[in-house]
Amino acid sequence: MGADLATVLNSAVSFARIQAESHIRTPENANNVIASGQADMVSIVRGQIADPHLVNKARENRVEDIRSCLSCNQMCWGRRSRDYWISCLINPSAGREFEWGGDRFSLAPVSRRVLVVGGGPAGLECARVAAERGHRVTLCEASGELGGQFRLAGMQPRRGQILQLMEWYATQLDKLGVDVRYNSPMGSDEISEFSADAVVLATGSQPAGTGYQKHCPT
Ligand SMILES: Cc1cc2nc3c(=O)[nH]c(=O)nc-3n(C[C@H](O)[C@H](O)[C@H](O)COP(=O)(O)O)c2cc1C
Ligand code: SF4
Repeated sequence: MGADLATVLNSAVSFARIQAESHIRTPENANNVIASGQADMVSIVRGQIADPHLVNKARENRVEDIRSCLSCNQMCWGRRSRDYWISCLINPSAGREFEWGGDRFSLAPVSRRVLVVGGGPAGLECARVAAERGHRVTLCEASGELGGQFRLAGMQPRRGQILQLMEWYATQLDKLGVDVRYNSPMGSDEISEFSADAVVLATGSQPAGTGYQKHCPT
């Protein structure tokens, strides 16, 4: 149950241990629930799908490295409830642990010069993973800030967690030494001149403008 309901139950029972659950996203949230006496224990479910290393990072006092769940339910519960295997909107390795290592990285045999064009969610994750694997990464973003469409989504009411995710990426890329270049649109000439070993285009897409919709094809 959520922390509010745990408080009510706690005041009504004497010998039971009460666990609060739901929307506890960070160690700070968890500490507050316990310190305020709302519950004796907390459980973090989606938070550990979004970041399988949450507990270790909290134990090692690396709270800024925790990738906090967005409470979006898109890829975890949303897929589970339709009988698909689960994943996570912000942790693509969730559900693919055997193939992709569960957000654990091994160094690539050769360190390459990687150019990522576009600082939206796909470009950010690609730059992070490439840098974790020991590549020398440059990320060029056309605008003055990271996030792309995710930043737009984060401006909705009660969706500020998405903007926190953008801060998390900025922190991680900084720690990993990724060269992030703002206001740097890259055309084909600039990309050729850059002479990267590998180029990732993560510039997103544009609406076709035809009015066609998958759910309303006619
Ligand atoms: C993928 C997924 C599967 C879940 N399966 C169950 C379940 O089988 N039984 C259950 O009581 N709750 C289930 N839950 C609910 C969680 O136990 C938890 O109550 C909920 O996710 C809210 O807590 P959180 O904000 O820490 O994620 C599931 C949640 C997710 C995301
Ligand atoms: S899909 Fe959304 S709600 Fe589910 S764990 Fe990932 S970020 Fe959290």
